[in-house]
Amino acid sequence: MNRKGNATQPVKLTGADVAKHDSADSCWVIVHGRAYDVTEFLPEHPGGSKIILKYAGKDATEEFEPIHPPDTLDKYLEADKHLGEVDMNTVEQEEKADDPEERERQERLKTMPILEQCYNLMDFEAVARKTMKKTAWAYYSSGADDEITLRENHSAFHKIWFRPRVLVDVEKVDFSTTMLGTPVSIPFYVTATALGKLGNPEGEVVLTRGAHKHNVIQMIPTLASCSFDEIVDAAGEGQVQWLQLYVNKDRKITKRIVEHAEKRGCKGLFITVDAPQLGRREKDMRSKFDDVGSNVQSSTGDNVDRSQGAARAISSFIDPSLSWKDIAWFKSITSMPIILKGVQCVEDVLKAVEYGVQGVVLSNHGGRQLDFARSGVEVLAEVMPVLRERGWDKRIEVYIDGGIRRATDIIKALCLGAKGVGIGRPFLYAMSAYGLAGVDRAMQLLKDEMEMNMRLIGASSVDQLNPSLLDTRGLSFHSAGVPSDTLALNVYDPLSGPKEKSKL
Ligand code: LAC
Repeated sequence: MNRKGNATQPVKLTGADVAKHDSADSCWVIVHGRAYDVTEFLPEHPGGSKIILKYAGKDATEEFEPIHPPDTLDKYLEADKHLGEVDMNTVEQEEKADDPEERERQERLKTMPILEQCYNLMDFEAVARKTMKKTAWAYYSSGADDEITLRENHSAFHKIWFRPRVLVDVEKVDFSTTMLGTPVSIPFYVTATALGKLGNPEGEVVLTRGAHKHNVIQMIPTLASCSFDEIVDAAGEGQVQWLQLYVNKDRKITKRIVEHAEKRGCKGLFITVDAPQLGRREKDMRSKFDDVGSNVQSSTGDNVDRSQGAARAISSFIDPSLSWKDIAWFKSITSMPIILKGVQCVEDVLKAVEYGVQGVVLSNHGGRQLDFARSGVEVLAEVMPVLRERGWDKRIEVYIDGGIRRATDIIKALCLGAKGVGIGRPFLYAMSAYGLAGVDRAMQLLKDEMEMNMRLIGASSVDQLNPSLLDTRGLSFHSAGVPSDTLALNVYDPLSGPKEKSKL
């Protein structure tokens, strides 16, 4: 061991020191220039021990970075397992195996369209698909099972048509509104999506900056790549953020998260209720299985089911026993408004009102959970007349998310009675392809579309949007099949067929 140094200059470990600990019996890894002894942590790792053992004795930063918020190691590893700084000049750089797909991606990056060529939100998706790393694209774009709900979310908007009014003075159009009391410039918010650093090295703070510029609310995900505090710290003066919460089996952890969010100024607690278990996203699963045999659980001796790609690895803490009984407890630990995210039928909306929560998001989690869950907009059409009939529509704010790609989609939701809509993937794609400039342009495009379409429907402000401006007859039945959808044609990746072993 090369251990020269003195009292003022802490001794750095060398690559060789770390490399000796390269097995399950003694497993050290390097993350961001520091070494950690993770031997005892191996069986507890939510993503399984095998992935850590792949980096035993080596630098794991690249794999670690997008999936773990920066405070992870401090939180989960005892101080005595933090072994100190490593002299990175002494760490052997591993030659990366030639990856033809990655080589082609690098080529495509050189010829990607300039930002100004993106005219709508689908354009960002098309560019992201070709330019994002395969695993990142697979995680963001995948839906559950056959991705029917994923496609339906967008297609459902195609079943609603307009009944515009003419000769309305629309010289000035104001589409600002409020959400949970916060004034916003346009009725959408950036909804929570996990693992922002898969798409952009800076992660969710890019969305924070875009949201600030456009005066829209950002919902901070529990499973962000950035730490919660980094995302709050990135907020501008007066910028409003909400917290999306996955409820931990250990309620002490949940309480700490909620209290901390409130202390840091979050203005809404969105509890995810549609994910007692994460859905099977087969595209995500498939993208993880490039290494032969990685799906053979018994070979590694751990019992983590890695068959669910990134999603499974990050979600094992979620409490499937969460129930209506817990709402009272949430009310006792926070004075933030509580909103249930992922409600899917009118009965549960009525229950939500009875339990005294302030809002619901009619959502199927971007088609990533139960396949054949109905679209948020269809559920909205079911919910609002019942709420109005009971005079309960003012007791609760109703939001929807899923499949929103156009301002006309936002307008349709508002006409039906939504207070606003959440948009997730499109901003991830814009951020992945073009960084902050992409997010900025995506939001501006929506604003431009909004102004034009409000004019064309004959409404100069949000309070003029009402059900009489819509023809929703198409929503009332499900056609035999799923309507074909050009978006889906661009999104779905079929299994590419057996590969020869030499090419794996
Ligand atoms: C997902 C979770 C983590 O949909 O929200 O992947």
